[in-house]
Amino acid sequence: MATILAIETSCDETAVAIVRDRQVYSSIIASQIPVHQQYGGVVPEVASRQHVETINQGIAQAFQQAGANWSEIDGIAATCAPGLVGALLVGLSAAKTLAILHQKPFLGTHHLEGHIYASYLSSPDLQPPFLCLLVSGGHTSLIYVKDCGVYETLGETRDDAAGEAFDKVARLLALGYPGGPIIDKLAKEGNPNAFPLPEGKISLPNGGFHPYDSSFSGLKTAVLRLTQRLEQEGHSLPVKDIAASFQDTVAKALTKRAIACALDYGLNTIAVGGGVAANSGLRKHLQEAAAAHNLQVMFPPMKFCTDNAAMIGCASADHLNRGHVSSLSLGVRSRLPL
Ligand code: KG4
Ligand code: ZN
Repeated sequence: MATILAIETSCDETAVAIVRDRQVYSSIIASQIPVHQQYGGVVPEVASRQHVETINQGIAQAFQQAGANWSEIDGIAATCAPGLVGALLVGLSAAKTLAILHQKPFLGTHHLEGHIYASYLSSPDLQPPFLCLLVSGGHTSLIYVKDCGVYETLGETRDDAAGEAFDKVARLLALGYPGGPIIDKLAKEGNPNAFPLPEGKISLPNGGFHPYDSSFSGLKTAVLRLTQRLEQEGHSLPVKDIAASFQDTVAKALTKRAIACALDYGLNTIAVGGGVAANSGLRKHLQEAAAAHNLQVMFPPMKFCTDNAAMIGCASADHLNRGHVSSLSLGVRSRLPL
Protein backbone atom coordinates (compact mmCIF):
# COMPACT_ATOMS: atom_id res chain seq x y z
CA MET A 1 0.00 0.00 0.00
CA ALA A 2 1.29 3.47 -0.85
CA THR A 3 -0.01 6.90 0.09
CA ILE A 4 0.76 9.51 -2.53
CA LEU A 5 0.58 13.29 -2.61
CA ALA A 6 -0.22 13.95 -6.28
CA ILE A 7 -0.20 17.13 -8.33
CA GLU A 8 -1.76 17.66 -11.77
CA THR A 9 -1.19 20.90 -13.68
CA SER A 10 -1.07 19.79 -17.32
CA CYS A 11 -3.72 22.23 -18.56
CA ASP A 12 -6.27 24.49 -16.88
CA GLU A 13 -6.95 22.78 -13.54
CA THR A 14 -4.64 23.13 -10.56
CA ALA A 15 -5.28 19.81 -8.84
CA VAL A 16 -3.78 18.23 -5.72
CA ALA A 17 -4.83 14.96 -4.08
CA ILE A 18 -3.83 12.48 -1.42
CA VAL A 19 -4.55 8.90 -2.45
CA ARG A 20 -3.86 5.55 -0.81
CA ASP A 21 -3.77 2.99 -3.64
CA ARG A 22 -7.33 3.20 -5.01
CA GLN A 23 -8.80 5.17 -2.14
CA VAL A 24 -9.09 8.96 -2.37
CA TYR A 25 -8.39 10.76 0.92
CA SER A 26 -8.67 14.23 -0.61
CA SER A 27 -9.03 15.77 -4.05
CA ILE A 28 -8.74 19.51 -4.59
CA ILE A 29 -9.43 20.99 -8.03
CA ALA A 30 -9.07 24.70 -8.72
CA SER A 31 -10.55 25.23 -12.17
CA GLN A 32 -9.25 28.09 -14.28
CA ILE A 33 -12.16 27.93 -16.74
CA PRO A 34 -13.63 31.31 -15.68
CA VAL A 35 -10.22 32.95 -16.25
CA HIS A 36 -9.80 31.47 -19.74
CA GLN A 37 -13.43 31.98 -20.76
CA GLN A 38 -12.80 35.65 -21.57
CA TYR A 39 -10.23 34.54 -24.20
CA GLY A 40 -12.46 31.80 -25.69
CA GLY A 41 -9.99 29.04 -24.82
CA VAL A 42 -6.97 28.14 -22.70
CA VAL A 43 -4.09 30.67 -22.87
CA PRO A 44 -0.91 28.74 -21.91
CA GLU A 45 0.92 31.65 -20.25
CA VAL A 46 -2.13 32.57 -18.21
CA ALA A 47 -2.53 28.90 -17.18
CA SER A 48 1.07 28.73 -15.86
CA ARG A 49 0.63 31.89 -13.81
CA GLN A 50 -2.63 30.65 -12.35
CA HIS A 51 -0.99 27.37 -11.33
CA VAL A 52 1.80 29.28 -9.55
CA GLU A 53 -0.78 31.36 -7.71
CA THR A 54 -2.96 28.47 -6.53
CA ILE A 55 -0.69 25.46 -6.04
CA ASN A 56 0.48 26.12 -2.48
CA GLN A 57 -3.06 26.63 -1.32
CA GLY A 58 -4.09 23.43 -3.12
CA ILE A 59 -1.41 21.40 -1.32
CA ALA A 60 -2.45 22.82 2.06
CA GLN A 61 -6.12 22.08 1.34
CA ALA A 62 -5.34 18.52 0.25
CA PHE A 63 -3.66 17.80 3.60
CA GLN A 64 -6.45 19.52 5.48
CA GLN A 65 -9.24 17.64 3.69
CA ALA A 66 -7.45 14.31 4.19
CA GLY A 67 -6.57 15.06 7.81
CA ALA A 68 -3.10 13.77 6.88
CA ASN A 69 0.43 14.82 7.76
CA TRP A 70 3.76 14.44 5.99
CA SER A 71 4.77 11.31 7.91
CA GLU A 72 1.92 9.41 6.21
CA ILE A 73 3.07 10.28 2.68
CA ASP A 74 5.09 7.53 0.93
CA GLY A 75 5.74 9.36 -2.33
CA ILE A 76 5.15 12.60 -4.21
CA ALA A 77 3.93 12.53 -7.79
CA ALA A 78 3.17 15.02 -10.54
CA THR A 79 2.05 14.81 -14.16
CA CYS A 80 5.16 15.14 -16.37
CA ALA A 81 3.58 14.81 -19.85
CA PRO A 82 1.78 15.46 -22.14
CA GLY A 83 0.40 18.96 -21.69
CA LEU A 84 1.29 22.63 -21.71
CA VAL A 85 5.01 22.82 -20.91
CA GLY A 86 4.87 25.88 -18.64
CA ALA A 87 1.85 24.52 -16.81
CA LEU A 88 3.41 21.07 -16.31
CA LEU A 89 6.60 22.67 -15.00
CA VAL A 90 4.78 24.31 -12.11
CA GLY A 91 3.44 21.01 -10.77
CA LEU A 92 6.56 18.98 -11.49
CA SER A 93 8.85 21.55 -9.84
CA ALA A 94 6.61 21.68 -6.79
CA ALA A 95 6.61 17.88 -6.48
CA LYS A 96 10.40 17.63 -6.86
CA THR A 97 10.97 20.38 -4.30
CA LEU A 98 8.69 18.68 -1.78
CA ALA A 99 10.32 15.30 -2.46
CA ILE A 100 13.77 16.75 -1.71
CA LEU A 101 12.55 18.66 1.32
CA HIS A 102 10.71 15.73 2.89
CA GLN A 103 13.09 13.04 1.57
CA LYS A 104 10.35 11.07 -0.20
CA PRO A 105 10.42 9.22 -3.53
CA PHE A 106 9.41 11.33 -6.54
CA LEU A 107 7.32 10.03 -9.45
CA GLY A 108 6.62 11.75 -12.77
CA THR A 109 3.43 10.27 -14.20
CA HIS A 110 1.95 10.25 -17.71
CA HIS A 111 -1.31 12.18 -17.88
CA LEU A 112 -3.05 9.49 -19.95
CA GLU A 113 -2.03 6.78 -17.51
CA GLY A 114 -3.78 8.91 -14.91
CA HIS A 115 -6.98 8.98 -17.00
CA ILE A 116 -6.82 5.17 -17.28
CA TYR A 117 -6.45 4.85 -13.50
CA ALA A 118 -9.49 7.08 -12.92
CA SER A 119 -11.61 3.97 -13.56
CA TYR A 120 -9.96 2.18 -10.62
CA LEU A 121 -10.98 5.01 -8.28
CA SER A 122 -14.68 4.42 -8.85
CA SER A 123 -14.34 0.64 -9.40
CA PRO A 124 -11.52 -0.56 -7.11
CA ASP A 125 -12.20 -4.18 -8.10
CA LEU A 126 -11.58 -3.53 -11.78
CA GLN A 127 -8.63 -5.55 -13.10
CA PRO A 128 -6.85 -5.51 -16.46
CA PRO A 129 -7.27 -6.42 -19.21
CA PHE A 130 -9.86 -3.88 -20.34
CA LEU A 131 -10.30 -1.29 -23.05
CA CYS A 132 -10.08 2.39 -22.12
CA LEU A 133 -11.89 4.90 -24.33
CA LEU A 134 -10.22 8.17 -23.44
CA VAL A 135 -12.05 11.17 -24.86
CA SER A 136 -10.92 14.59 -23.67
CA GLY A 137 -10.02 18.01 -25.02
CA GLY A 138 -6.58 16.74 -26.02
CA HIS A 139 -7.07 13.03 -26.74
CA THR A 140 -9.30 10.49 -28.43
CA SER A 141 -7.67 7.16 -27.75
CA LEU A 142 -8.58 3.51 -27.52
CA ILE A 143 -6.09 1.94 -25.15
CA TYR A 144 -5.69 -1.77 -24.45
CA VAL A 145 -4.84 -1.84 -20.73
CA LYS A 146 -2.82 -5.01 -20.11
CA ASP A 147 -1.17 -4.28 -16.75
CA CYS A 148 0.35 -1.43 -14.74
CA GLY A 149 2.54 0.42 -17.24
CA VAL A 150 1.67 -1.98 -20.09
CA TYR A 151 -0.57 -0.24 -22.62
CA GLU A 152 -1.18 -0.57 -26.31
CA THR A 153 -2.79 2.35 -28.11
CA LEU A 154 -5.07 0.76 -30.70
CA GLY A 155 -6.88 3.84 -31.95
CA GLU A 156 -6.31 7.59 -31.98
CA THR A 157 -7.61 10.70 -33.66
CA ARG A 158 -5.68 11.78 -36.72
CA ASP A 159 -6.48 15.47 -36.14
CA ASP A 160 -8.83 17.11 -33.62
CA ALA A 161 -9.65 15.35 -30.36
CA ALA A 162 -13.34 14.73 -29.62
CA GLY A 163 -13.53 17.46 -26.95
CA GLU A 164 -11.61 19.83 -29.19
CA ALA A 165 -14.22 19.24 -31.91
CA PHE A 166 -17.01 20.10 -29.44
CA ASP A 167 -15.11 23.26 -28.43
CA LYS A 168 -14.44 24.34 -32.04
CA VAL A 169 -18.00 23.71 -33.21
CA ALA A 170 -19.31 25.63 -30.18
CA ARG A 171 -17.00 28.50 -31.08
CA LEU A 172 -18.20 28.64 -34.68
CA LEU A 173 -21.79 28.63 -33.43
CA ALA A 174 -20.76 31.45 -31.02
CA LEU A 175 -21.85 29.41 -28.00
CA GLY A 176 -18.85 29.99 -25.68
CA TYR A 177 -16.19 27.86 -23.99
CA PRO A 178 -15.92 25.01 -23.07
CA GLY A 179 -18.22 23.87 -25.84
CA GLY A 180 -18.99 20.29 -24.80
CA PRO A 181 -21.45 20.97 -21.98
CA ILE A 182 -23.21 23.74 -23.96
CA ILE A 183 -23.65 21.60 -27.08
CA ASP A 184 -24.78 18.66 -24.94
CA LYS A 185 -27.49 20.82 -23.35
CA LEU A 186 -28.72 22.26 -26.66
CA ALA A 187 -28.60 18.85 -28.36
CA LYS A 188 -31.19 17.51 -25.90
CA GLU A 189 -33.75 19.85 -27.49
CA GLY A 190 -32.68 19.31 -31.10
CA ASN A 191 -33.25 16.71 -33.80
CA PRO A 192 -30.16 14.49 -34.25
CA ASN A 193 -31.34 13.51 -37.74
CA ALA A 194 -31.86 17.08 -38.96
CA PHE A 195 -28.55 17.30 -40.83
CA PRO A 196 -26.55 14.31 -42.08
CA LEU A 197 -22.86 14.96 -41.29
CA PRO A 198 -19.71 12.98 -42.19
CA GLU A 199 -18.29 10.85 -39.36
CA GLY A 200 -14.69 11.27 -40.59
CA LYS A 201 -13.20 7.94 -41.65
CA ILE A 202 -9.49 7.23 -42.13
CA SER A 203 -8.86 5.53 -45.49
CA LEU A 204 -6.51 2.57 -45.72
CA PRO A 205 -4.36 1.73 -48.77
CA ASN A 206 -6.49 -1.39 -49.42
CA GLY A 207 -9.55 0.79 -49.99
CA GLY A 208 -11.09 0.10 -46.57
CA PHE A 209 -11.22 2.28 -43.48
CA HIS A 210 -9.22 2.19 -40.28
CA PRO A 211 -11.49 0.45 -37.75
CA TYR A 212 -10.34 2.33 -34.62
CA ASP A 213 -8.82 5.68 -35.67
CA SER A 214 -11.02 8.76 -35.89
CA SER A 215 -10.91 12.19 -37.52
CA PHE A 216 -13.04 15.13 -36.48
CA SER A 217 -11.66 18.07 -38.46
CA GLY A 218 -13.75 17.20 -41.55
CA LEU A 219 -16.86 17.07 -39.40
CA LYS A 220 -16.05 20.50 -37.97
CA THR A 221 -15.59 21.87 -41.52
CA ALA A 222 -18.89 20.28 -42.57
CA VAL A 223 -20.65 22.10 -39.72
CA LEU A 224 -18.98 25.35 -40.82
CA ARG A 225 -20.13 24.87 -44.44
CA LEU A 226 -23.64 24.01 -43.23
CA THR A 227 -23.90 27.18 -41.14
CA GLN A 228 -22.52 29.29 -44.01
CA ARG A 229 -25.04 27.78 -46.43
CA LEU A 230 -27.97 28.30 -44.06
CA GLU A 231 -26.91 31.90 -43.41
CA GLN A 232 -26.51 32.61 -47.13
CA GLU A 233 -29.99 31.25 -47.72
CA GLY A 234 -31.23 33.72 -45.13
CA HIS A 235 -32.24 31.17 -42.47
CA SER A 236 -31.77 31.87 -38.79
CA LEU A 237 -29.45 29.13 -37.51
CA PRO A 238 -31.25 26.06 -36.11
CA VAL A 239 -28.57 25.80 -33.41
CA LYS A 240 -30.28 23.03 -31.44
CA ASP A 241 -30.66 20.80 -34.51
CA ILE A 242 -27.05 21.46 -35.58
CA ALA A 243 -25.81 20.68 -32.04
CA ALA A 244 -27.88 17.48 -31.93
CA SER A 245 -26.75 16.33 -35.39
CA PHE A 246 -23.10 17.05 -34.61
CA GLN A 247 -23.20 15.35 -31.20
CA ASP A 248 -24.96 12.29 -32.58
CA THR A 249 -22.34 11.94 -35.32
CA VAL A 250 -19.45 12.12 -32.81
CA ALA A 251 -21.16 9.76 -30.36
CA LYS A 252 -21.89 7.16 -33.05
CA ALA A 253 -18.35 7.39 -34.47
CA LEU A 254 -16.78 6.83 -31.03
CA THR A 255 -19.22 4.04 -30.17
CA LYS A 256 -18.61 2.18 -33.41
CA ARG A 257 -14.83 2.23 -32.93
CA ALA A 258 -14.87 1.31 -29.24
CA ILE A 259 -17.23 -1.63 -29.75
CA ALA A 260 -15.31 -2.94 -32.77
CA CYS A 261 -12.05 -2.69 -30.85
CA ALA A 262 -13.36 -4.45 -27.73
CA LEU A 263 -14.87 -7.28 -29.79
CA ASP A 264 -11.79 -7.72 -32.00
CA TYR A 265 -9.48 -7.93 -28.98
CA GLY A 266 -11.81 -10.04 -26.85
CA LEU A 267 -12.09 -7.41 -24.11
CA ASN A 268 -15.43 -7.45 -22.29
CA THR A 269 -15.07 -4.17 -20.39
CA ILE A 270 -14.86 -0.66 -21.80
CA ALA A 271 -13.88 2.01 -19.25
CA VAL A 272 -14.54 5.55 -20.49
CA GLY A 273 -12.57 8.57 -19.31
CA GLY A 274 -11.95 12.24 -20.13
CA GLY A 275 -14.34 15.20 -20.19
CA VAL A 276 -16.35 13.92 -23.17
CA ALA A 277 -17.37 10.91 -21.03
CA ALA A 278 -19.97 13.33 -19.63
CA ASN A 279 -21.67 13.55 -23.00
CA SER A 280 -25.24 12.28 -22.89
CA GLY A 281 -25.18 11.20 -26.55
CA LEU A 282 -22.03 9.13 -26.08
CA ARG A 283 -23.42 7.56 -22.90
CA LYS A 284 -26.65 6.60 -24.64
CA HIS A 285 -25.12 5.14 -27.80
CA LEU A 286 -22.25 3.35 -26.06
CA GLN A 287 -24.44 1.86 -23.34
CA GLU A 288 -26.98 0.60 -25.89
CA ALA A 289 -24.33 -0.88 -28.18
CA ALA A 290 -22.43 -2.45 -25.28
CA ALA A 291 -25.59 -4.08 -23.95
CA ALA A 292 -26.37 -5.47 -27.41
CA HIS A 293 -22.92 -7.11 -27.49
CA ASN A 294 -22.86 -8.25 -23.84
CA LEU A 295 -20.04 -5.86 -23.00
CA GLN A 296 -19.68 -3.96 -19.77
CA VAL A 297 -19.23 -0.20 -20.08
CA MET A 298 -18.09 1.95 -17.18
CA PHE A 299 -18.45 5.72 -16.93
CA PRO A 300 -16.66 6.94 -13.79
CA PRO A 301 -18.21 9.97 -12.04
CA MET A 302 -17.33 13.27 -13.72
CA LYS A 303 -14.99 14.35 -10.92
CA PHE A 304 -12.68 11.50 -12.00
CA CYS A 305 -13.30 11.83 -15.78
CA THR A 306 -12.11 15.42 -16.10
CA ASP A 307 -8.59 16.39 -15.06
CA ASN A 308 -7.86 15.69 -11.41
CA ALA A 309 -4.89 14.72 -9.26
CA ALA A 310 -6.50 11.67 -7.63
CA MET A 311 -6.08 9.70 -10.86
CA ILE A 312 -2.38 10.68 -10.97
CA GLY A 313 -2.01 9.58 -7.34
CA CYS A 314 -3.71 6.25 -8.05
CA ALA A 315 -1.40 5.48 -11.01
CA SER A 316 1.66 6.61 -9.07
CA ALA A 317 0.76 4.46 -6.05
CA ASP A 318 0.60 1.38 -8.28
CA HIS A 319 4.05 2.21 -9.68
CA LEU A 320 5.55 2.95 -6.26
CA ASN A 321 4.17 -0.36 -4.94
CA ARG A 322 6.22 -2.03 -7.69
CA GLY A 323 9.34 -0.10 -6.73
CA HIS A 324 9.18 2.32 -9.66
CA VAL A 325 10.44 5.86 -8.95
CA SER A 326 11.54 8.71 -11.23
CA SER A 327 14.80 10.59 -11.33
CA LEU A 328 14.80 14.16 -10.05
CA SER A 329 16.27 15.12 -13.44
CA LEU A 330 13.03 14.10 -15.21
CA GLY A 331 11.70 16.91 -17.40
CA VAL A 332 8.30 17.77 -18.81
CA ARG A 333 7.19 17.05 -22.38
CA SER A 334 4.38 18.60 -24.39
CA ARG A 335 3.95 15.32 -26.26
CA LEU A 336 4.82 11.83 -25.14
CA PRO A 337 3.36 8.54 -26.32
CA LEU A 338 1.88 6.39 -23.58
O1 KG4 B 1 -10.66 15.72 -19.64
P1 KG4 B 1 -10.89 17.18 -19.74
O2 KG4 B 1 -11.46 17.90 -18.55
O3 KG4 B 1 -9.57 17.94 -20.08
C1 KG4 B 1 -8.61 17.49 -20.96
O4 KG4 B 1 -7.72 16.70 -20.55
O5 KG4 B 1 -8.73 17.89 -22.14
O6 KG4 B 1 -11.82 17.40 -21.02
C2 KG4 B 1 -12.26 18.68 -21.40
C3 KG4 B 1 -13.08 18.53 -22.67
C4 KG4 B 1 -13.49 19.86 -23.28
O7 KG4 B 1 -13.15 19.82 -24.66
C5 KG4 B 1 -14.99 19.89 -23.07
O8 KG4 B 1 -15.68 20.61 -24.07
C6 KG4 B 1 -15.35 18.43 -23.09
O9 KG4 B 1 -14.29 17.80 -22.39
N1 KG4 B 1 -16.62 18.15 -22.41
C7 KG4 B 1 -17.70 17.64 -23.04
C8 KG4 B 1 -18.74 17.59 -22.09
N2 KG4 B 1 -18.26 18.06 -20.90
C9 KG4 B 1 -16.95 18.40 -21.12
N3 KG4 B 1 -17.86 17.25 -24.32
C10 KG4 B 1 -19.08 16.79 -24.67
N4 KG4 B 1 -20.12 16.72 -23.82
C11 KG4 B 1 -20.01 17.09 -22.54
N5 KG4 B 1 -21.07 17.03 -21.72
ZN1 ZN C 1 -6.84 15.14 -19.29
